Amino acid sequence: MSTAPQTSIRSGKGPGEAVGIALLGFGTVGAEVFRLLNENADAFAHRIGGPAEVRGVAVHNKNKLRPGVPAELLTDDAEALVRRDDIDLVVEVIGGIDYPRHLLLTALNAGKSVVTANKALVAAHADELAESADRAGVDLYFEAAVAAAIPVVGMLRRSLAGDQIRRISGIVNGTTNFILDAMETTGASYEDALAEATRLGYAEADPTADVEGHDAASKAAILASLGFYTRVTFDDVHCEGISQITADDIKAANKAGYSIKLLAICEVLIDESGKKSVNARVHPTLVPKDHPLASVSKSYNAIFVEAEAAGSLMFYGNGAGGNPTASAVLGDVVGASRNIVHGGRAPGENTYAHLPIADFGEVLTCYHIDMEVADRAGVLAAISEVFAQRGVSLRTVRQENGNGTARLIVVTHSAREAALEEIVAKLGDLDEVKAVHSVIRLHS
Ligand code: HSE
Repeated sequence: MSTAPQTSIRSGKGPGEAVGIALLGFGTVGAEVFRLLNENADAFAHRIGGPAEVRGVAVHNKNKLRPGVPAELLTDDAEALVRRDDIDLVVEVIGGIDYPRHLLLTALNAGKSVVTANKALVAAHADELAESADRAGVDLYFEAAVAAAIPVVGMLRRSLAGDQIRRISGIVNGTTNFILDAMETTGASYEDALAEATRLGYAEADPTADVEGHDAASKAAILASLGFYTRVTFDDVHCEGISQITADDIKAANKAGYSIKLLAICEVLIDESGKKSVNARVHPTLVPKDHPLASVSKSYNAIFVEAEAAGSLMFYGNGAGGNPTASAVLGDVVGASRNIVHGGRAPGENTYAHLPIADFGEVLTCYHIDMEVADRAGVLAAISEVFAQRGVSLRTVRQENGNGTARLIVVTHSAREAALEEIVAKLGDLDEVKAVHSVIRLHS
């Protein structure tokens, strides 16, 4: 990724000139983008300074009936479309990685600006795409790649560009939030809540990317890169999903005053010598009920940003779906088209900080450990010794008596992840500990 200032001043086509758009993909989002661009053509022309004309729509099967789309616009040759001289802007809503990567690099290298909603592509290949955009002096926009309608990319790139971000914590996957919320509010099992999410169309037929946290990890990589001016890719994100969370975990969390949320957390670590590194992670997290993120229900998304001067901010809304995603795509279409008509470029990628990726063992986290222990003298002492030996201080210890055993719930103060992992392994080996039911990190 280039860290040089963007020096190329692009001249515009001129006020009143039309912007030629290639739309790649005509699924739920593509169809909405097309419909809204046509229905609100006048408003778009005013906002841009010239008409926005869709001059081609690339689809897999051009013979399929697509009401409202003139047949002459349809093509199954996306590559030829993006190269056409009458195309100024390419809008990609196909999904996947390799095929759209090839198309978008072709478009950028041919001097076309790009708008993409593709989180997986941006999280894996932002450097390459941004370098091509810089070389060609064109724009690369991807607002819809993170939390759809919530304007978080623009907020980090522009509105908070004068601040120092301390931490970003987000609920960035609607499917998992729906599942966890249903488990909390109705007492449903994970399997039943997932089935309901599938029935309502939130979860995909194969929901792995959602429930195992991969979708959120792509978004975490993008948020960390933007927030900390460094490159974080999908592979750099520590990722744990929600498939191990049980109804019992949710009940215990509730009782202790927490909601369990799948959070994407991005922060900068500073070691004793002042050396900085960046961490992005996705895992189920206990969020205190009085934290704004705990109130995010159903399939909504929210991004909580802690910044030095601005303080805490929360951005909330629809993070998925055809209409909300089309809203974000169209905001980018207006921005990119304005630059095509009037000249200039949007703020691009800037990774001047070049931070190394933190070793996950060095990240400071708090653990909530729920275990079943023998109910006899000396058990607490043996357990606290395991924590003390590794310099980990306990925040709360709660005991509920059973029949010969007791349920012990320990919450730690913040400590190195490596020390906490070691403690959990050691606890599992103690005779006094019958079972470690769950280990969930706490948002602090
Ligand atoms: N599948 C995602 C979600 C939407 O459930 O939030 C697109 O990223």
